[in-house]
Amino acid sequence: MLVAEGLECLKAIAIMGGCRRPVFVSSQKIAETLHTSPQTASRRLKALESQAFITRSLTPDGQHISITEKGERELRREYADYCRLFAAGSGGYTLTGSVVSGLGEGKYYMSLEPYKAQFFSHLGFTPYPGTLNIRLSASSLPVRKKIDALEWTRIKGFSADGRTFGDARCIPCRMNNVSCAIVVPGRTHYPEDMIEVIAPVALRRQLGVEDSDKVTVEVGS
Ligand code: CDP
Repeated sequence: MLVAEGLECLKAIAIMGGCRRPVFVSSQKIAETLHTSPQTASRRLKALESQAFITRSLTPDGQHISITEKGERELRREYADYCRLFAAGSGGYTLTGSVVSGLGEGKYYMSLEPYKAQFFSHLGFTPYPGTLNIRLSASSLPVRKKIDALEWTRIKGFSADGRTFGDARCIPCRMNNVSCAIVVPGRTHYPEDMIEVIAPVALRRQLGVEDSDKVTVEVGS
C-alpha cells in the first residue's frame, strides 16, 4: 500500500524526471522539495524502495533514483482520479435553500420587453413574470461562490421613459428538471445568501412550493 506521504515523494521524483531516467539527487534536495527534514525524506525513500516503487543506487554525494513500472502505475492511477474529478460534464453544482417572498419587483422587471427579449435569445425561453427568491442554506454559500466563477451571460441594461435599467447576468440552472436560470442584478450590494430564479413556468405552482419550503437548484452539466 502506498501511503499519502509516499505518493507525494514519488510525485516529486517524477517531476524531476524520474519516470524517464534516473535522477541524481541528495536527500537534502528531496527534503527541501517535500518541506521535511532530511531524515524524514530518507525514511520515505527507503520505504518507497522497499515496496519497489523506486530503485536507488547510492553514491557518497547523492543517489540515482528511478521510478519503477509499479511506481509509475501508482502515479497514473492518481492522475486518472483527477481526470475523472475535473472532466467536463463530471457533475454540476447543487444549491439548496428555502423559498422566500420579495418585494414583488421581479414581476415588474421580468415584464420589460428589452429584458424579456434578451432572456429569450440567451436562454431559449420567455420568463414567467417574476423571480423565485431563494434564501440559500449556509452550506451552499461556498458553492454559490464557485458558481460565480463560471461563465455567466450578460444581460444589457437600457433606457426607457427617462429611466435607466441596469445590467444583469444570468446562468442556466435546473429545478426538478425544469430549465431555469439564476439572475443577478448588476447592483453591487446584493445579499450573498439570496438567489433569484427565472423560468418559463410559474415555479411555485409547478414545484408545489410556498414560502419556507426547501428547494434544490442544479447548475452546470
Ligand atoms: O418579489 P417576489 O419574488 O415576491 O415576487 P416577484 O418576483 O414579482 O414574483 C411574483 C410571484 O411569482 C412570487 O410569488 C414568485 O415567487 C413567483 N414566481 C414563480 O412562482 N415562478 C417564477 N418563475 C417566478 C416567480
